[in-house]
Amino acid sequence: MAARNGTRYEQVADIIERQILSGSLKPNERVPSLRTMSRNVGVSVGTVVQAYLHLERRGLLDSRPRSGFFVAARSPAAASPSAARRSRKPRTVSSKVVDTVLSALNRTDLVALNSAVTDPASRLNGRLNGLTRRVLRELPELPNVFIPPPGLETLRREIAKRMALTGAPVVPDDIVVTNGTMEALALSLGVLCKPGDAVLVESPTYFGILQLLEHLRLKVVEVPNHPEHGIDADALEYAVSGSEIAAALLQSSFNNPTGAQTPDAVKERIVRLLAERGIPLIEDDIYGDLHLGPERPKPFAAFDDSGSVITCASISKSVALGFRVGWVAAPRHTTELIRAKFCTTVATPTLQQHVVARYLAEGLHDRHLRRVREELATNFERFSDAIVDAFPRGTRLSRPGGGVVLWLELPGEVDGLSLFRAALAHRIGIAPGLIFSASGRYERFIRISAGVRFTPAVRRAIEVLGRLARG
Ligand SMILES: Cc1ncc(COP(=O)(O)O)c(C=O)c1O
Repeated sequence: MAARNGTRYEQVADIIERQILSGSLKPNERVPSLRTMSRNVGVSVGTVVQAYLHLERRGLLDSRPRSGFFVAARSPAAASPSAARRSRKPRTVSSKVVDTVLSALNRTDLVALNSAVTDPASRLNGRLNGLTRRVLRELPELPNVFIPPPGLETLRREIAKRMALTGAPVVPDDIVVTNGTMEALALSLGVLCKPGDAVLVESPTYFGILQLLEHLRLKVVEVPNHPEHGIDADALEYAVSGSEIAAALLQSSFNNPTGAQTPDAVKERIVRLLAERGIPLIEDDIYGDLHLGPERPKPFAAFDDSGSVITCASISKSVALGFRVGWVAAPRHTTELIRAKFCTTVATPTLQQHVVARYLAEGLHDRHLRRVREELATNFERFSDAIVDAFPRGTRLSRPGGGVVLWLELPGEVDGLSLFRAALAHRIGIAPGLIFSASGRYERFIRISAGVRFTPAVRRAIEVLGRLARG
């Protein structure tokens, strides 16, 4: 895991790690001597030693007596998991495996590395409970007040203000409040597609998206999301030029499960490519606020001047998973979305809308997000180190710039579904790679959530997973 703004030794380690990952430093190549590195970076020799030993522990470097440090011949974390190949064949989705995985989500006896969520303790329960009590005191009639779609105006105003800061030109009237991102995506697909249509998605992508497409009887065309570079725009161009696509549904940032960030220039190109062919883009921006770097990545909507990008998101990942408050911002489709919302779930619960509106208006959200991001950065570091120590050589591990999950490609014959089953028997929850694509790819992959706190139980669980993967 690359340190972003860590201690001096982490920064030195980061410089070397980047060179290894980019291929500038090759396996078995000697890395700069302690003295050279110390002089070039302006840190003490001791700091460089600390950095190199850290990289050695992670399997990236080997020390050779009297010769110095060398890039490891086969270092586990030096390679990112591989990406899918391009394709433009529409496929149907089948959720058979997903049912087994979803039933594990209900188990309370697991070390839960299977849910893509941040630590419950980071999620402000005390403050939200206080706000809830205040709202009910001030508006005792609330249990019998109903807010028809598009939803509470003060909430839509707060959401629009935050979206405007990301570069998306959205006003409160463009927004419909929903029950989480999932409903926002479902309503948008319902408005744009009819059964049998093909929808362009990433490979891999969040299994909930694939299930939703199956539920709506939609087919998928998959374009690779590379763990390091994000969405492959060339493959996307190839796909849209060869098949009838009704809509694209892409994750804006920190893809679940790869954690990859698609660069701005690529996002801009994708928006242009889709607009040229009249293909509407639904973006899922649920992880945009969970960035480890200094800047929040822009949503696709920031590159759209025709109002044809629909942005879906929620507060589920950072504030309140159980409130089920999300939204869809769709300048061109608000009327149809309001109608769709009304005839599916009628409205989003009144109390939650008021509480979230007040929470956002109080201006504490940014400070909260800063803390969550710091915790995530530490978690990624600890989880990655523990995985590198525990898993067999040849395991490839993602290095996300944000979000909450790690994506692992297992070496040789190790199969993710068997590992998932074996892990459940040890009361450990993970997600097998198979469920993140409609194509049957990713049998040798697993996803591990790094959102939960890195406790001794988590460390032990990772050691057990590593042992099972080696066995
Ligand atoms: C990419 C992605 N989209 C949507 C969701 C569901 O979001 P919500 O809880 O807001 O419905 C998740 C949850 O894991 C997710 O990872």
